[in-house]
Amino acid sequence: ICLFVPNFRFSIMDCFPHPDASEVSRSRYACCWSPVDEANVPWCFFSKNHGYSVVSESQPDSTHIEARLTRMDAPSLFGADIKELIFYAEMQTENRLRFKITDANQARFEVPHEHVQAPSSPPTGPLKYRLELIQKPFGLKVWRTSPEKLLFDTTIGPLVFADQYLQLSAKLPSHNIYGLGEHVHQTFRHDTNWRTWPIFTRDSFPNGGTHNLYGHYPYFTCLENESGQSFGVFLMNSNAMEVTIQPAPAITYRTIGGVLDFYILVGDTPEAVVDEFTQLIGRPFIPPYWSLGFQLSRWDYGSLDEVKKVVERNRQIGIPYDVQYTDIDYMEDKKIFTYDMEKFKELPQFADYMHGNGNKILIVKRNSHTSQVWPGETVFPDYTNQACVDWWVDEISRFHKEVKHDALWIDMNEVANFVQGSSKGCAENKLNYPPFTPRILDNLIYSKTLCMDAKHKWGNHYDVHSLYGYSMVLATEKYVLTNRSMVFTRSSFPGVGKYAGHWLGDNAANWNDIKWAIPGMLEFNLFGVPYIGADICGFFDDSPEELCRRWMQVGAFYPFSRNHNAQGYKDQDPAAYGADSLLVKTSKHYLNIRYTLLPYLYTLFYKAHVNGETVLRPMMHEFYSDSKTWGVHNQFLWGAHLLITPVLDPGVENVEAYIPDAIWYDFEKERITDRKEKVNLNLPADKLGLHLRGGAILPAQRPDVTTTYSRCHPMRLIIALDDSNAASGELFWDDGESRVISDLFLLDQDVLTMHVTHNGYTDPNNLKFENITVMGVTGAPVSVLVSDGTTTNALTESQVNYDSTRKVKECSIVLYLRNLELELGKNYTVNWQ
Ligand code: NOJ
Repeated sequence: ICLFVPNFRFSIMDCFPHPDASEVSRSRYACCWSPVDEANVPWCFFSKNHGYSVVSESQPDSTHIEARLTRMDAPSLFGADIKELIFYAEMQTENRLRFKITDANQARFEVPHEHVQAPSSPPTGPLKYRLELIQKPFGLKVWRTSPEKLLFDTTIGPLVFADQYLQLSAKLPSHNIYGLGEHVHQTFRHDTNWRTWPIFTRDSFPNGGTHNLYGHYPYFTCLENESGQSFGVFLMNSNAMEVTIQPAPAITYRTIGGVLDFYILVGDTPEAVVDEFTQLIGRPFIPPYWSLGFQLSRWDYGSLDEVKKVVERNRQIGIPYDVQYTDIDYMEDKKIFTYDMEKFKELPQFADYMHGNGNKILIVKRNSHTSQVWPGETVFPDYTNQACVDWWVDEISRFHKEVKHDALWIDMNEVANFVQGSSKGCAENKLNYPPFTPRILDNLIYSKTLCMDAKHKWGNHYDVHSLYGYSMVLATEKYVLTNRSMVFTRSSFPGVGKYAGHWLGDNAANWNDIKWAIPGMLEFNLFGVPYIGADICGFFDDSPEELCRRWMQVGAFYPFSRNHNAQGYKDQDPAAYGADSLLVKTSKHYLNIRYTLLPYLYTLFYKAHVNGETVLRPMMHEFYSDSKTWGVHNQFLWGAHLLITPVLDPGVENVEAYIPDAIWYDFEKERITDRKEKVNLNLPADKLGLHLRGGAILPAQRPDVTTTYSRCHPMRLIIALDDSNAASGELFWDDGESRVISDLFLLDQDVLTMHVTHNGYTDPNNLKFENITVMGVTGAPVSVLVSDGTTTNALTESQVNYDSTRKVKECSIVLYLRNLELELGKNYTVNWQ
């Protein structure tokens, strides 16, 4: 029965998502057929005969609903339909609903997640959502209760549940959809005009295609409207799938295995949804302090001598730089846990030498079923098997005794294979040749990976393929736990951020890839992986000076800031462009700002770990009531307060920046800028835009060439007053590897309160706040008083500086307090009148 309603085209579901869908499908599959001349719009859509109906429903208690479903009488799309299903819903928290649909009679593969679990007790407060079941055809509606709003409505299309084809669609309340991955999304906010995104981990290049990349993220956030109310949807399913985002607005999931295990997270703001999602999958780890420093890497330095040359030339230019990498070329014939006794003979001594200078070194580990990867014939460890985890940890420990590396880079774990399936090909069976293949790259499920019938302890490769990197992270974490190392991984799955960071993979030196890194990093902040960056200056291809210069500027503000280059391309470490080059000058300038602000960045990571906040933050997370921010993806924030506007185009010195509604101070000129409008920023060759939001107190420290040194330097507060002369901020501080001291700063009407909330760590460097800068102080102060609670002293004239003729706005100025001795970990008030 084809029922046509006005605008039906926007609310239809593709009935037969196959390239050979034709009018024949209409009769064969009881689909409706209506050709139109519009790109991507399906011609073939579901009739009302498809789906399931509810045969019984029960409510064991007030937070659970169970129902049995039976399949309605429609032809099968891809065979092996499951006749009887069980639907199970659990109101897990006030904000979190879980519902699961699976075979009523037989167990199916479910993701053995390390963190996700049902809470031990039912929610106590009122629920923010309500679930409604529709009987025939089966559907469900998830409502926000206040104000009442339909968030997730599956009655827009039928449920299809076959052994290797599961489909569910849902109408959404807005077009503001963010997330899903891993792909290159050229915009942060999704295009809802029938775009299909495949999800299945794959060793492929982020070159702008719509194909699947290294990670598997069936997760998105939807911002409902200007109120900020938002919700997240996580489908915990690791099978190959595709997701279509359509103009209703709606989303359709088509996965080829597992179960439909959905989590709906209802929040008051987009940030609150990140908090809820990371509560569910695991909060991000706090990276070691040194790993926030700048890092240099390339694939194939050729020899240790060449690595040393690069280290020395970059040291000579005095660039802040903490970490040096060696890639697979240090290995003997690219075999893991070996090093080349000729070209890298002195690798152990080199590690010691680097440590002596306050640097860290980081080396690559990879996995090695027989197949082909870098060393030639390769076998792949099964990290889902405990015996393998024990072996892995032991190998790393033994290698560490020889070469004292500081962190582990786990790569190619999608899992990548240079041949299709195996050296002997793959057997003809339903796993290797499923009846439906989502639109993944090459349209071949075992392309560039293992055969789908390869066995892991957790199950068939068919089901666990996208969990390979995840299981490798969990195994590597067992080593890290005892050895204070750190991991970052190329392949990932929700929950990886609890233990590891990620980079966006093999980009190239071009002006597209510098742009696309921003939505990519913003998405990983939604996915709970805030330790994220892209290869600065581009991995493939020679990086022209202008591109690399602009990339070094923006890269200084990547949470994970690493310049990495592929084999065979021109050197692109800053010094390679000439000690006196503009590139070196501007790189040093912005890396010095980065190092100055590392106490702030580190605190943001702490807040991500404790509260589930984003570190690199989308503008719309802070300014959701302004719809102009919803689509911004060429600017980003550090936390709530620092706005970064990079130059991302060649030959450009003027950038149209969006400055949302707040007081903003130009960070470098210490002057107020316009607000809530597009502002033309003049950003000459050596500049990017950096603005500090009124209301901020940023903890800072005098920079140096490594964090080992900068951590010994005096601290500073950079304060920007808001419309009501107030500001606040926090500092989390520890030894950089274990966690303890916490300072809270509040400034209200000319009184700065420095209050220690947790104190269990004494810094060996006897750190003091020596400088305080306050932007936006009204009028010149007559006196400044500092009190530690027992004694109050007036600052001397030489300690108080300002230029009363230089106004930051109407009658306000910048106040500089100098040569202070406010000890870290003690309480003070600073008061100016
Ligand atoms: C692939 C990684 O993505 C890249 O960063 C690395 O340099 C090469 N493998 C070689 O190890």
